[in-house]
Amino acid sequence: MAATSGSPLASRLSVSVTVFDQLGALPFYNEDIDNEADVSAAVTALRAAAAEADAALVVTPECNGSIPAVIKNAIDWLSRPFGNSALKDKPLAVIGGSFGRFGGVWAHDETRKSFGIAGPRVVEAIKLSVPFGSLNGQPPRENAELAGNVREAVGKLIAEVG
Ligand SMILES: Cc1cc2nc3c(=O)[nH]c(=O)nc-3n(C[C@H](O)[C@H](O)[C@H](O)COP(=O)(O)O)c2cc1C
Repeated sequence: MAATSGSPLASRLSVSVTVFDQLGALPFYNEDIDNEADVSAAVTALRAAAAEADAALVVTPECNGSIPAVIKNAIDWLSRPFGNSALKDKPLAVIGGSFGRFGGVWAHDETRKSFGIAGPRVVEAIKLSVPFGSLNGQPPRENAELAGNVREAVGKLIAEVG
């Protein structure tokens, strides 16, 4: 996703959306490098983006029936400092997608479970799983029903910001 304060979605909802697209640059979580001297720039950027956000929307595919390793790794980095993480108590929602007809619901559920332990306040009422196969090759943004569902999910998430 891209930083999109001027995007159609953002302007309609009057919110600014910052996209964090460096998940692949995060090293595997290791407490030995989670200190000021050794922590990588990508981790610092992830935590800064989380600290600046009022809420987080996590979008994930399903991989082998579970959560992609890069997402789990990001959760691990965002779970520390323990009890005082950058997303602590902030509303967070998850959108899952996959080619399978269940729309990545396993990855969706596991992502919510893991974030629920890591510090943010997972908004359980927001559940959107997207079966890409049902789009028949249509770009997701051109599918009116899907676009409406994403807009509704974002709207519900914004409503959770205190
Ligand atoms: C290694 C790997 C494992 C995957 N495992 C699953 C899976 O268990 N269930 C599923 O429905 N889709 C699975 N997929 C499909 C992905 O969820 C996703 O829909 C696909 O990679 C398309 O992503 P893209 O549109 O970004 O190219 C898998 C894809 C890859 C590469």
